[in-house]
Amino acid sequence: MQSEGILRAAASIRAWPSNGLAKQISRRPKDGVKIAPSILAADFARLGIQVGEAGRAGADRIHVDVMDGHFVPNISMGAPIVASLRPITQLPLETHLMISDPDFFIEEFIGAGSDSFIVHWEGNNNLHRTVQSIRRRGKRVGVAINPATPAGVLEEILDDLDLVLVMTVNPGFGHQQFIHTTLPKITRVRQMIEHRNPACELEVDGGIDAATAGQAIDAGATVLVTGSAVFGSAEGVAAAMNLLRSSLRPVEQ
Ligand code: DX5
Ligand code: ZN
Repeated sequence: MQSEGILRAAASIRAWPSNGLAKQISRRPKDGVKIAPSILAADFARLGIQVGEAGRAGADRIHVDVMDGHFVPNISMGAPIVASLRPITQLPLETHLMISDPDFFIEEFIGAGSDSFIVHWEGNNNLHRTVQSIRRRGKRVGVAINPATPAGVLEEILDDLDLVLVMTVNPGFGHQQFIHTTLPKITRVRQMIEHRNPACELEVDGGIDAATAGQAIDAGATVLVTGSAVFGSAEGVAAAMNLLRSSLRPVEQ
């Protein structure tokens, strides 16, 4: 089973040559790839402007990375940022909680305007309770797994999820290198989703740019989180979003 997944993912990688000429496009989601720019890489002095630019350039949701300096070795932002963004964008605000005690903060983020939550499998002794408490409050919920965490841990929770997030870097920082060994795992999660919960989204997060986006999508992802490739681009947010989308476009033969 495992080697089959690796072989299929390897075939997907081969189908995406580095010269950008995709000879064979597989696994492309029927309703299109969704893009979730991560504001971790934004210029916070111009946050509202940059989120507006991302929206006009076709972002599907805004990804908010919350870090507590404990679950990950970095501190980022909290609910006040969500509250500031809520009146200035109609895009869904997706809240990625990289914090030790997510249950303590769900209510505050909902009050601030979060539409959905991603909580980590790692370090949560009561993941089912966390997931159900988010669902009970009428919000979408996803579970994230780190690069070293096997896909199999999702088996007993997958039915309850709107989204799985496969981390393609170790969480905690933007602008890291995409970890290619996560590709076969993306394919394994895709197979589990098809089997158990086909409506569930499969998101990837970390090191996603015009070179890696196609690989993640061909492995089975449907949603791309991208921080520095969009907000850190010297060409601007709109040009960066266009570049990312055109890297996914099948080449006409
Ligand atoms: C990493 C965060 C990511 C990060 C992605 O811990 O979860 O969302 O912002 O940033 P890039 O796209 O720069 O890797
Ligand atoms: Zn994230």
